[in-house]
Amino acid sequence: MKFFLDTANIEQIKEAKDMGMLDGVTTNPTLVSKENKSEHELYSEIIEICKGKPVSLETTSNDTDVIVKQGQEFVNTYGKDVYVKVANTKEGLKAVRTLFDSGINCNVTLTFSASQYLLAAKAGARVVSPFIGRLDDISLDGNMTLIQDIEVIRRNYKFENQAETLVSSIRHPVHVVQAAVMGAPLATMPFKVLNMLFKHPLTDIGFATFMKDYESVDK
Ligand code: E4P
Repeated sequence: MKFFLDTANIEQIKEAKDMGMLDGVTTNPTLVSKENKSEHELYSEIIEICKGKPVSLETTSNDTDVIVKQGQEFVNTYGKDVYVKVANTKEGLKAVRTLFDSGINCNVTLTFSASQYLLAAKAGARVVSPFIGRLDDISLDGNMTLIQDIEVIRRNYKFENQAETLVSSIRHPVHVVQAAVMGAPLATMPFKVLNMLFKHPLTDIGFATFMKDYESVDK
């Protein structure tokens, strides 16, 4: 499973890279608004740190022509590592088709159902982002069933541009593990969740005991 970091924070991206756990980055307007830098400065730095790994940059319109123009500008400015993030709307998916036809990869975001996945895959999405945490937030059961259904659909067909499942809106390590068990190829998570994956109290207790016992070993 490839790990993407869901952030626009430079320090977090650098740290995940140092851990050897960074396969790409996803940003969105909310994440960008939390940083104290211009969009251009942030995107340039993220692309530079990620070198060769996909970075999703989100379009901010629901007008097909504007989305296409924004997507082309992203790629012209920041290069081929950009996955143009497009909302899963009718106008958005029209833009995805046009961008795909011109060789640009899209990440179809704000996906909440298997039917929306199917449409995005047919439109030529490189990756599709189902948001599981936001389904949890509104007490909707079945978010992991959504991933399971999407994975079945993905494997049933050979979509034009892969339409890999990028499990998104992850809230805790169990989401990551369940998605991995289902065979989802990609997951994007906040830095906090990446760190939580490392934690196990028995590892900490066991390590402390081994270190203490080693003190009495005759060297
Ligand atoms: C995905 O690309 C989105 O940026 C992200 O996963 C949204 O997550 P949230 O529901 O935590 O905002």
